[in-house]
Amino acid sequence: MNATKKAVTIYVPRDSTAVSLGADEVAAAITAEAARIGIDVELIRNSSRGMFWLEPLVEVATDAGRIGYGPVQPEDVASLFATGLTHGGEHPLSLHLVEEISYLKNQERLTFARAGITDPVNLADYRAHDGYKGLSNALAMEPAAIIAAVTDSGLRGRGGAAFPAGIKWKTVSGAEGEQKYIVCNGDEGDSGTFADRMVCEGDPFVLIEGMTIAGVAVGATRGYIYLRCEYPYGERALNEAIKAAYAANWLGANIQGSGKHFDLEVRMGAGAYICGEETSLLESLEGKRGMVRFKPPLPAIKGLFGCPTVINNVITLASVPIILDKGSEHYKNFGVGRSRGTLPVQLAGNIKHGGLVEKAFGVSLRDLLYTFGGGALSGRPIRTVQVGGPLGAYIPDSQFDLPLDYEAYAKLNNMVGHGGITVFDDTVDMAEQARFSMEFCATESCGKCTPCRIGSTRGMEVIDRLVAGDQPVKQEALLRDLCDTMLAGSLCALGGMAPFPVLSALNHFPEDFQKSSQQQTPRVRVAS
Ligand SMILES: Cc1cc2nc3c(=O)[nH]c(=O)nc-3n(C[C@H](O)[C@H](O)[C@H](O)COP(=O)(O)O)c2cc1C
Ligand code: SF4
Repeated sequence: MNATKKAVTIYVPRDSTAVSLGADEVAAAITAEAARIGIDVELIRNSSRGMFWLEPLVEVATDAGRIGYGPVQPEDVASLFATGLTHGGEHPLSLHLVEEISYLKNQERLTFARAGITDPVNLADYRAHDGYKGLSNALAMEPAAIIAAVTDSGLRGRGGAAFPAGIKWKTVSGAEGEQKYIVCNGDEGDSGTFADRMVCEGDPFVLIEGMTIAGVAVGATRGYIYLRCEYPYGERALNEAIKAAYAANWLGANIQGSGKHFDLEVRMGAGAYICGEETSLLESLEGKRGMVRFKPPLPAIKGLFGCPTVINNVITLASVPIILDKGSEHYKNFGVGRSRGTLPVQLAGNIKHGGLVEKAFGVSLRDLLYTFGGGALSGRPIRTVQVGGPLGAYIPDSQFDLPLDYEAYAKLNNMVGHGGITVFDDTVDMAEQARFSMEFCATESCGKCTPCRIGSTRGMEVIDRLVAGDQPVKQEALLRDLCDTMLAGSLCALGGMAPFPVLSALNHFPEDFQKSSQQQTPRVRVAS
């Protein structure tokens, strides 16, 4: 009798990072080579685990665990099969057990627990890896108890402002309104950030589940995911997952017989940085131009279409299911001070091992940059990093031991923000970077208030004069004055924080602003 031979399971990521590095061609080459040599392969298109320098990372399921090879190109596929890919055989591209790669092994993955492990749009796979346990628990709880669990976990908004999620939810829960909304901020406009994109592409169900829990908790029956237009792969994965969730009654009317109702759809932004600011986002979602609204009223009281609205970042909402599954204490046990849980840090720019590192708060920049990141890609010394996107301060080496903690960062006028870290080596020109911050603000300003709209352009001019050595003492005083005005007089954090990178460059790297007088060797600007 012929025993049926089991197919070999091979994983090739389908997310935009891996695809941009050739994952689709690698997947096609694997299918073709397997057919040619008569091997039955089940090809699963998982998502990146966040080790971008190894993409496309091909994994094969073996009795010992998942064995990885990377970075794989289509021309490597024949030799991979020839050296025993199907049983994890040795090959020059062998990475051995993927879970044992130190970059992954030394992380604390809560929000990204499934990233790269599951088929992102397969609901059964999601459920087999603890998916929907959080919502199942929430459906059996009183709404107030769900909100209490989120508050007790210490979860703070991961979009930048670090506002406690539970308090925001409580405000919406107590607000008057027939209709309430959950809005997910997936605009992710900060330079060097990609964690939201990785959730949308790599584990969309966790976001859907988090939003549904939020809806049940505050009494909102409709949700929108506002996604930046540069994320078509995320849009596709989210829509596939939403369709599957509706089909299995995890969305829609009477969810799993609970009597709770939640509808969800994805809306694409048109690509303006200011549309990540929550009130601009709401304007855009309502079909208007993305302009910042005056506050109060807060969106929690009068948000989308004038109704009480929870607006949270992708990572904030995607962190909720594990809190409802494992309990607030479990989540709270990670972190330091008032910064509880984990932060998915994104290493970008001039870094050898760029990618996603989810660590408990408290980790130092030095650990992230050297233990995980492996130092600058150029091999030169790291001179500075910009943490928290284009409005974040430039942090010098002397502060690399600072623990990742909202309060510790704020004390030094630094920002954790959305956890993006852009790395620059010693060839960076900090005067150019400071000018770029003002230029960015001028380009992206919504134009509603004067300090931001006009101040940013004047800021560029003053920096130009300062660098040219035109009355430098006077120009520096003028620049600091202008920064004070923008800090104090801007309506939103775009104009209100753009001075932070400028001032940090000026304070930590004054020599870069004195080029004309000191005849320095010209430095090369590294794009952020
Ligand atoms: C100019 C500007 C851009 C912003 N961009 C984003 C963004 O892309 N994504 C995001 O989640 N929050 C962004 N924010 C923060 C949001 O206004 C808001 O604080 C956040 O969506 C609230 O969610 P959270 O509490 O979960 O962080 C931005 C704020 C400003 C001022
Ligand atoms: S600070 Fe800039 S972006 Fe914000 S409201 Fe004022 S003009 Fe608009």
